[in-house]
Amino acid sequence: MSRYISLFFLALPCLFVSCKKHKAGTGHDGWSTYAGAKDGDRYSSNTELTPENVSQLQVAWTYSSNDKDSANRSQNQCNPIMIDGILYATSPRLKLLALDAATGEQKWVFDPVTHDTAKNADPMAFYKICRGVTYWQDTAGGNKRIFYSVGPKTFAIDAETGQPIMNFGKGGYLDLAEDLGRKVTSYISGTTPGVIYKDLLIIGARVDESEDAAPGHIRAYDVMTGKLRWIFHTIPEPGEIGFNTWPDSTAWKRLGSANNWAGMAVDEKRGIVYVPTGSVGGDFYGGHRKGPDLFANCMLALDAATGKYIWHYQVVHHDLWDRDLPANPNLVTINHNGKTIDAVAQITKHGFVFMFDRTNGQPIFPIEEKPVPTNALPGEEPSPTQPIPTLPQPFARQHFGPEDVTDISPETHTDMMEKYNKVKYNARFTPPSKDGDWIFPGFDGGGEWGGAAVDPETKIMYISSSEMPWAQVMIDVPKNVDEHTLQGAGHAIYNRYCIGCHGPELKGNGTSFPSLVNIGKKYNELQIGQIIAGGRNMMPSFKQITANQKQALLAFLLKIPAKPSDAAIMPKEPVSSTKNVQNPVPYMMDGYKRFLDKDGYPGIKPPWGTLGAVDLTSGKLLWKVPLGEYPELTKKGIPKTGTELYGGPLVTKGGLVFVAATKDEKIHAFDKKTGKQLWEAKLPAAGYATPATYSIDGKQYVVIACGGGKIGSKSGDSYVCFALP
Ligand code: HEC
Repeated sequence: MSRYISLFFLALPCLFVSCKKHKAGTGHDGWSTYAGAKDGDRYSSNTELTPENVSQLQVAWTYSSNDKDSANRSQNQCNPIMIDGILYATSPRLKLLALDAATGEQKWVFDPVTHDTAKNADPMAFYKICRGVTYWQDTAGGNKRIFYSVGPKTFAIDAETGQPIMNFGKGGYLDLAEDLGRKVTSYISGTTPGVIYKDLLIIGARVDESEDAAPGHIRAYDVMTGKLRWIFHTIPEPGEIGFNTWPDSTAWKRLGSANNWAGMAVDEKRGIVYVPTGSVGGDFYGGHRKGPDLFANCMLALDAATGKYIWHYQVVHHDLWDRDLPANPNLVTINHNGKTIDAVAQITKHGFVFMFDRTNGQPIFPIEEKPVPTNALPGEEPSPTQPIPTLPQPFARQHFGPEDVTDISPETHTDMMEKYNKVKYNARFTPPSKDGDWIFPGFDGGGEWGGAAVDPETKIMYISSSEMPWAQVMIDVPKNVDEHTLQGAGHAIYNRYCIGCHGPELKGNGTSFPSLVNIGKKYNELQIGQIIAGGRNMMPSFKQITANQKQALLAFLLKIPAKPSDAAIMPKEPVSSTKNVQNPVPYMMDGYKRFLDKDGYPGIKPPWGTLGAVDLTSGKLLWKVPLGEYPELTKKGIPKTGTELYGGPLVTKGGLVFVAATKDEKIHAFDKKTGKQLWEAKLPAAGYATPATYSIDGKQYVVIACGGGKIGSKSGDSYVCFALP
């Protein structure tokens, strides 16, 4: 009897408010966009799961796409969305999946390999980064589309059938390399999905980080036709706001990047899109890009309908440390000094939250221009000051001194002190030098693309953050390679395009950038050629490398002895000739180097990864707890250390923060008030992604992509969804 009564009451709301299952929730009651809603807040008004019952969570379903890389190089960073009871998600090889969000049952799959118009369907080349998808429907609801990017192509897929919409763009997709005002042959790729404003898809892109990177302009496309509706030049052109801040008036023609790769947030009421940007190409040396580098490293407020500039705030001037703004902004309304302010908050890799009045860009808490070191490499002109917010308090440690070097064991301490002392500087914003400086929090943050969650009721922000030092040491760009042999020409090409990540001795950095020593034992010429042309995961593609240059590069990588036929394929022009280099630079970083001890643990005292809660009203860091553990260390009695992590949290009205992200391959739930961990579950592979939560027929689900494949973790290809039994 009582069962029927409760069923009756459950059914009632559906009669009056149209049932959630049959409506695309746009607010906090669903998960209809990347990061939950257009405010970017990763917040859910669901209350079924609470601190009291979360420990009873069980696996509701698991879905495997069966397309991970067996060599553990594939990843999945997707934050899926839920529309009308269907979960839209991507797989490691960027298949687009439509699953029943309550059961995990597959509705349809779109496989981009079969739609590769270049007929260059090497499945390996489809291991790329995609952090999610964008949904749009017309007001009548007859036209429903999913937009998502596979490398340079942004597809429009019919949300009901899984078929590309052939009259959109170039036959179902946009080519991100077009419409940029100059011919782009270098890498460009969609990663974090775009946002919808009315009938516009507003998107950024990932480009390579070199001196000759493609432009990072922000673009809006017509959702119906795929036609470009507006473009905002992130490096301003003559006559545009900001152009006069560039000492060299040709900068806009020759430089690139200043791109939005981490997502945006939309204030629909005001019609403003908030766009965080990254640094200008040539990450670590800026002699070719003198000045503050507007609009790189900025929070940009643009008119969402027209792309017109409204305001900007530059968070890092003349960036020499790859301090891209790494996550979508969070929109939040706060009370400040007795006034209600609609604010936009932005987390950074260096561990700060910058907060502005959404209407005019005025800082909520004072931001001070602090003097920073200026001893720099010849030709460099570092900024004498950098902006540091007085509040909110930073969510990551700000200093890495000798007293912070690991003491996990006396031997490791001695060993790591020696290594520590080889890098000279530890002050924040020390310009890169041959003596080296510590980047802390590291190149991957601090804050990263997982983004922050904000509770709109309590105005508390939750951030998962790594505390890993990386060494930044500069070297001369290698010269004097004899380019008269095919191998020599290949060496020069390697130095130009590959050395920045794979290092001068081809050794990579052990984890994220693989060694290319003896690469011939692993791949044949064809396979290496495909990796170079297509890129893979975090490795950009190099379409600008010509066929002959590729032959030379292969001769170098595979140490193919010189033969008479070489003469016919010798690249005509030496690559090192200035004619071939748009923005020659004299210095480069000698590799991406995490500070790891001989056992692979961070060379800094814990915590190595944390979950923090920042009160956006007072600016106070309320709590910060280690996130994740190394079970073998915990067993030894060492308190939880946290682990380096990738992926963000979500927060619920029910009182919980969910986050996976850790190297121990677990998903965790915390009490949002206290930071106490209440539940965790082991995943099939690390959840280096941000979870989503939604409710169907009154039941709340939490789903996470388990892609692994970063920082030495094994790869996975499943989504795991949890619910109460
Ligand atoms: C921006 C950094 C970056 C640059 C520049 C770069 N790579 Fe890579 N490369 C990577 C990463 C990251 C991977 C691992 C990709 C993955 O996860 O599958 C990789 C993987 C590879 C692999 C496969 C290695 C393996 O063990 O599976 C080859 C081969 C390779 N790169 C060659 C090159 C060549 C040749 C160049 C220059 C034309 C180059 N890379 C430039 C970052 C880079």
